[in-house]
Amino acid sequence: MPEGTLTQMPDRPDSAPSSGPLIDTFGRVASDLRISVTDRCNFRCTYCMPAEGLAWLPKNEILTFEELTRLLRVFVGLGVESIKVTGGEPTVRADLPTLVGMFRDVGPELDISLTTNGVLLESLAGPLARAGVDRATVSCDSLLQHRFAEMTRRDALEKVLRGLRAAEEAGLTPIKINCVVIGGTNDDEVVDFARWARETSYEVRFIEYMPLDAQHAWERRKVVAASTVLERIDAAFPLIAHGGNVEPATTYGFADGSPGRIGVIPSVTEPFCDSCNRMRLTAEGQFRNCLFALEETDLRGPMRAGATDGELVDLVRDAMWNKWSGHRIDHADFVQPARSMSMIGG
Ligand code: GTP
Ligand code: 5AD
Ligand code: SF4
Repeated sequence: MPEGTLTQMPDRPDSAPSSGPLIDTFGRVASDLRISVTDRCNFRCTYCMPAEGLAWLPKNEILTFEELTRLLRVFVGLGVESIKVTGGEPTVRADLPTLVGMFRDVGPELDISLTTNGVLLESLAGPLARAGVDRATVSCDSLLQHRFAEMTRRDALEKVLRGLRAAEEAGLTPIKINCVVIGGTNDDEVVDFARWARETSYEVRFIEYMPLDAQHAWERRKVVAASTVLERIDAAFPLIAHGGNVEPATTYGFADGSPGRIGVIPSVTEPFCDSCNRMRLTAEGQFRNCLFALEETDLRGPMRAGATDGELVDLVRDAMWNKWSGHRIDHADFVQPARSMSMIGG
């Protein structure tokens, strides 16, 4: 794995600057906030959680719409330009379109996208688009009905495909597909996914399997390198690199001019931590400066105890300032975060 090239600022002060962009000691600017609106999910993907699900947070611990909206206003004041509404599965949060409408009022110019398993989009795509969602990313790890059912523990491929069509009709475009590639499970489908991208015009993104599962069953040998995925697709459908990549995905078009796009998210083999602009808010109001962070900053407690916006700003600035250079997957000293992907927010 290539080591990062980040260096800390010389003569950096001990504490975060009290104005200006939201930066860390490596000079990275945070401008993207991923907001988990629930820890619950209606799927049970094998690489994410056990069949029985997880111990969901009690309702009173989940941030209310008003609390989420207040925090978003604070973050927009700090320079956030794009938000990702995520979960668990965000569409299982009751009245999600109402919440999105409140988010839209906070930031008329915000890029608001949704990462979802797609199973409820058939009915929700229209309301979500009208409320202010710009675009959707839908997870889909297999195009085979039986394998999809095995991987998600739900026989829902057809419903997800109908949800995708509803998302297109509602204008939640460009549509992206997230496919987590697991060696020996679904890696034989990458060319089929590429063909599907060509037929649908979707951007299909292959994500390297990360150690973020609740069962701690991740195995390095099951990670299929993004480079392998690209080689296999390129052999069937030659690819051309697409300029202006927005990380973490590196994207490619088809050399024959066919519509659709391929993306890879090489979190394990080529980490993109050096240029990370992300931060996360969990459903119960914990702020995380990295997907793999081992520490969180509680925003809900202070907020419910009467903290001012200025005090919340200080907490966020300090937490960002303390961001590490990057995760250590592939290093002997790697420690998996106590919480799994669905609890952190995808
Ligand atoms: P858009 O391209 O704007 O839709 O955003 P995105 O690429 O962040 O989309 P999405 O939320 O679908 O994220 C895709 C996947 O990238 C996630 O499911 C994760 O597997 C991975 N990912 C997202 N954020 C991070 C991060 O901060 N660190 C790492 N290592 N992986 C991430
Ligand atoms: N490794 C990689 N991606 C994961 N996701 C969930 N768990 C993992 C993991 N262990 C993906 C989901 C979804 C997004 C939110 O994160 O498939 O597309
Ligand atoms: Fe649910 Fe997403 Fe986890 Fe699958 S990966 S169980 S859809 S939170």
